[in-house]
Amino acid sequence: MIIGLPKEIKDNEYRVGLTPAGVRALTDAGHRVVVETKAGDGSGFEDSLYERAGATMLGSADEVWGEGEMIVKVKEPIAPEYPRMREDQLLFTYLHLAPDVQLTNQLLQRKVTGVAYETITDRRGTLPLLTPMSEVAGRMAVQVGAHFLEKMSGGGGVLLGGVPGVPAARVVIIGGGVVGTNAAKIAVGMGAHVTIIDNNLDRLRELDDIFLSKISTLASSAYMIHDAIQTADLIVGAVLVPGASAPKLVTRNMLKDVPNGAVLVDVAVDQGGCVETTHPTTHSEPTYYVEGVLHYCVANMPGAVPRTSTFALTNATLPYALRLANNGLKAAVEKDPGLKEGVNTYGGKLTYEAVAISQNKEYTPLDQLLSA
Ligand SMILES: NC(=O)c1ccc[n+]([C@@H]2O[C@H](COP(=O)([O-])OP(=O)(O)OC[C@H]3O[C@@H](n4cnc5c(N)ncnc54)[C@H](O)[C@@H]3O)[C@@H](O)[C@H]2O)c1
Repeated sequence: MIIGLPKEIKDNEYRVGLTPAGVRALTDAGHRVVVETKAGDGSGFEDSLYERAGATMLGSADEVWGEGEMIVKVKEPIAPEYPRMREDQLLFTYLHLAPDVQLTNQLLQRKVTGVAYETITDRRGTLPLLTPMSEVAGRMAVQVGAHFLEKMSGGGGVLLGGVPGVPAARVVIIGGGVVGTNAAKIAVGMGAHVTIIDNNLDRLRELDDIFLSKISTLASSAYMIHDAIQTADLIVGAVLVPGASAPKLVTRNMLKDVPNGAVLVDVAVDQGGCVETTHPTTHSEPTYYVEGVLHYCVANMPGAVPRTSTFALTNATLPYALRLANNGLKAAVEKDPGLKEGVNTYGGKLTYEAVAISQNKEYTPLDQLLSA
């Protein structure tokens, strides 16, 4: 198969869909990989590294999309990329189609096979290609929290770990999933007092086993959340209700009781945020104050650490890319029902039910199309 790796062109996107190691794995398996020049620059991979790994470098995105039978990317295609997509081309990337009617229509009209990272499932039913970015964002949440707690950054001037004779900062993490657990690991490592709040008691039991007595756990309720954040220096929002907007668990009224200069990092901002006063911010202007609390609500936190994020993402995506290249789509999804879940569009039909429902479009099961 010919695999195309274009440079990402979305604003401030520095990740890339394949590392040189990924290119090597694909070329070793007998495939041809064409890479747009400078595709890896933002993640620290020079063209020469791709060349050494066996890639053919091409000077333009048009050439890469023109040759590639499978295009491997990070972000969903944006308008300048639409005309480059062509019939039967396999597009392997994050798609997030539900809110994106324009892109969905383009994929359908152009009969592109759209395999979306975010809907692939594994044997446990979790989303293996979303997990790495949650790990990055969770770990970053405490790192940026510590930074913004510094006086010069606008916070209350509190050191997370305290020092002998001065108590450590209090970190309250709402949601104990992937983001929350990774945030807790860093916060505990920095010596903070950590409390994790979740409404899933089994999850709290697991967290208690993982962290032993190093954290406190609380069952989620408005009362307990209000109580916990009244003494918090750093609050991390990390809840997710799959397929739904995040519930507003912290209200503006509750924030009035949070100490001035405390920092709130609402990682769940990409699902609307779990705090009433959350609105999305960017890396260039990441923060704002409400009720004296410094809010950090960047919707694409992993974008700040593209090198780590590219490695983390491609560690998870490469095995799927290899299976798609080695077997072709049909055989690959027959062998792996979780990969089949990733197929959102095929032959001009919408094959992912939730997207069809949210856009009020017709849904066609993939099996029906593959057996035709
Ligand atoms: N901003 C970013 O750059 C960025 C990056 C990665 C992930 N995210 C987002 O972070 C959020 C969390 O992701 P995740 O991978 O940790 O999800 P997850 O499913 O692993 O964890 C979510 C947790 O929230 C808990 N929860 C649900 N309702 C709750 C409630 N009412 N009270 C307390 N806890 C509740 C669940 O039990 C679960 O443990 C998602 O919205 C995800 O999209 C954002």
